[in-house]
Amino acid sequence: MRIVGVILATLLAQQASAQLADVDWWKTTTFYQVYPRSFKDSNANGIGDLEGITLKLDHFVDIGIGGVWLSPVFKSPMKDFGYDVSDFREIDPIFGTMADFEELAQGCKDRGLKLVLDFVPNHSSDEHVWFNKSIAREDPYTDYYTWRDPKGINETSGEPIPPNNWLSVFGGSAWEYNEEREQFYLHQFVAGQPDLNYRNPLVVTEMEDILRFWMDKGADGFRLDAIPHLMEDQTFPDEPPSNDPEFTPDQWGSLSHIYTADLPELYPIIYGFRKVVDEKQEELGRQMVMMVEAYTSLENTMKYYGEGDVKGAHFPFNFEFITNVNNETTASELKEIIDRWQNALPSGAWSNWVIGNHDRTRVASRFGRDFSIAAITMGQLLPGTAITYNGEEINMEDTWISWADTVDPQGCQAGPEFYEKFSRDPVRTPYQWDDSVYAGFTIPDSEKPWLPVNGNYEELNLAAQKQEENSPYAIYKKLTAMRKDMNAVKSGQLGTSTVGENIFVFTRYLQSADEKSVLVVVNLAENEVNADLTGVPTLRSGAMITYHVGVNSSYTAGQELSPSSVNVPARGSLVFLYTNAASTTVLASLLLVFSVILSLLH
Ligand code: GLC
Repeated sequence: MRIVGVILATLLAQQASAQLADVDWWKTTTFYQVYPRSFKDSNANGIGDLEGITLKLDHFVDIGIGGVWLSPVFKSPMKDFGYDVSDFREIDPIFGTMADFEELAQGCKDRGLKLVLDFVPNHSSDEHVWFNKSIAREDPYTDYYTWRDPKGINETSGEPIPPNNWLSVFGGSAWEYNEEREQFYLHQFVAGQPDLNYRNPLVVTEMEDILRFWMDKGADGFRLDAIPHLMEDQTFPDEPPSNDPEFTPDQWGSLSHIYTADLPELYPIIYGFRKVVDEKQEELGRQMVMMVEAYTSLENTMKYYGEGDVKGAHFPFNFEFITNVNNETTASELKEIIDRWQNALPSGAWSNWVIGNHDRTRVASRFGRDFSIAAITMGQLLPGTAITYNGEEINMEDTWISWADTVDPQGCQAGPEFYEKFSRDPVRTPYQWDDSVYAGFTIPDSEKPWLPVNGNYEELNLAAQKQEENSPYAIYKKLTAMRKDMNAVKSGQLGTSTVGENIFVFTRYLQSADEKSVLVVVNLAENEVNADLTGVPTLRSGAMITYHVGVNSSYTAGQELSPSSVNVPARGSLVFLYTNAASTTVLASLLLVFSVILSLLH
């Protein structure tokens, strides 16, 4: 009978390792988004740079992330702080030199870190040489951008009238008149970001070559920027109003973007980029990754994974925690949001969870200091890749910025009355390393940082949190360690449930007696809740649970308790470990009883 037990255990172990053999680095890791202007300034000009990031490489290792994603560091007039690229193959001097990039890439490699770049295919800068040649109608650049004749001339002002009512994401008309070419060009973002014309195959080829260039330089993949905007309807009709009272007529949200976003023709372009990435992967023998930024419907998001056998992105970002979870979300809604995403995944597609980025209110400001950690905990322990925006690991908060200090084009364009609703400056302020002047982002007698440091830096900074036992930093490290060490987090099944009105629970479970499964309990209420978790369907009846990590917990790590009475702190989360399957000895005893019964029957 012992032999049967051993055979069973071996079979179970084999099953687990067969699953793991297929798991690539980009699946089990955490990607950490660095906003280079605000991470670390090495040359005292008040703006972060590549050398600064290289100086801080050990921070990435320390917090247990495996992939570094850099917001754009390419040559740019900085009208959208790097998302307006004037040379896709050059490093902007503000960030350093190509040698600095190579040093950073090597530094990553030496530490086993992957380096992912931001690829901005929708537009270039208006200072790109292609655009200047396009203005001059110099072939082959004439149709590199979307040019249209004016609809007419305004009789009172004498100004040319834009071809239609399309609006820029940042507000105001999406059309800018160019005197020299005597035509309007399309810009879905600022006027300094003319939209490239993806109906022109030469543009596609140019952009694919740029992907190849950076993979040859050492990039391990890309984050693809603003993808739903890649193509527009070629008949250029007016867009209908959205009738959303939240927006004024010149704000992007006032229209329904049926002709400028999510066009079916754009997906094959992304599938083509994937092909290029896969070919380079093959050539260089290095696994690459391609992640897509697309704020769109769930249905459209899923199209980025590919179609049939044709591969698309390794994953499109899952923005559910940014766009759908808020402070009013109930436990059952949270369960529904998570289940809906997981169920929408095409077969074989890999999940991911984004908690924040350089465009959206920081998680600690969205959800408060406690629930932000609960969100990060979920992002780290739900199935799929985890994505962290720099500063989340220490729970950095938004910084209030005056109108006078506002530099983000989206804020500036909105004007003094509305800028606070739209400006992204508050989420982009310098990283808070320590309590020295300028939070250690730059040196004391440097130029003023390009955005003010948050006034809370003396209390909220990395150095302080390294000294504290249960700081956000300490919790974050425990979570990333779980991603590395535990098969349950890498490949365990997901079970979601609710207990009462306010408790959301999920498990990551393995059918193994030898490995721990994970139980995460989240309290959405403003008060502590005592929860009986014995009815959680994926928690084995009779199993004890061992506390591992959490927010404001009354338990100590390693403490074993019954799931029948668990105190979950207000807006907090607790992580427990448990054994999901009966141990092999129990299994063996059961088999023994079974065989005795059988022999008695004979
Ligand atoms: C993406 C970027 C954002 C940028 C925009 C235009 O949404 O995340 O920062 O302004 O694209 O490139």
